[in-house]
Amino acid sequence: MPLGFPVEGFESGQRYRAAPGDIFVASYPKCGTTWVQYIVYLLEHDAQPLVAGQRLEDVFPHLEEVGAQRVRELAQPRLIKTHLAFERTPWSDQAKYLYVARNPFDCAVSFYHHTRGFVRHYDFADGEWDTFFECFLRGEVDFGDYFDHLLSWWPRRSAANVLFVTYEQMLAAPGGAVETLAQFLGGPAAELARDPQRLDGVVRASGFAAMSRDQGRWSSARPADMPQFVRKGIVGDWRAQFSPEQARRLAVKLRERTAGTGIEELWPELTAGALQ
Ligand code: A3P
Repeated sequence: MPLGFPVEGFESGQRYRAAPGDIFVASYPKCGTTWVQYIVYLLEHDAQPLVAGQRLEDVFPHLEEVGAQRVRELAQPRLIKTHLAFERTPWSDQAKYLYVARNPFDCAVSFYHHTRGFVRHYDFADGEWDTFFECFLRGEVDFGDYFDHLLSWWPRRSAANVLFVTYEQMLAAPGGAVETLAQFLGGPAAELARDPQRLDGVVRASGFAAMSRDQGRWSSARPADMPQFVRKGIVGDWRAQFSPEQARRLAVKLRERTAGTGIEELWPELTAGALQ
């Protein structure tokens, strides 16, 4: 549980009863949550971007931060963010769940900058990468172990009301990703996606360049010398951060924790022995 979250919100969020029509965006931190949330938001709001001064968290709150009551008060369909593992996430067969995964290497680097950047929450502004890496590998970071989280959601990926996407797939083909999300959401979102102009509007408004602007829409302010919340938005940033030994250790853990599950096929370049 993040230090900055109220205990009451964390507890009551887990007791929220998912309702038919609810739309959850679920992920381990730093895997592209905000990006997917914003695409969903745009698809459900006629492609109208949030403007400076509006905040995504007001219309798409984080369940285990704000608690159940705040979420119940949302207009329907309720748009709900969660970083909870599957077994802690409120479930309804008639709700929809979009899970976004990202390779653990880039996730760890992004998480490091996140932890440095929210100075007040973590007191880690001067924290070093090597220190954070050890915490990440041990699963001693917000929301626990990366692999526990991914492995909790992975077996649900073929449920009719679950869509499993990866950050890497989305980045490789953003237009296709937006269309896939729209089809999965159905209703007005699928309708919108049939109009090429409005679909293109969603792709552009949710692209990295557009989301890099007015970042108060996604997060509280950060000190000027810290990376922004929407930071680099690339695949492979880890190569500039990891030592060869760190890369080897995470590759071993990735292989050990995911062997035989099919997850190893998501990021073959990271598990196929290339790092040995
Ligand atoms: P980096 O720190 O690697 O740049 P989350 O929302 O789960 O916290 O994930 C944050 C990560 O998603 C950050 O990764 C951020 O830059 C990236 N991101 C946010 N919006 C994006 C977009 N429109 N396109 C690509 N990446 C995006």
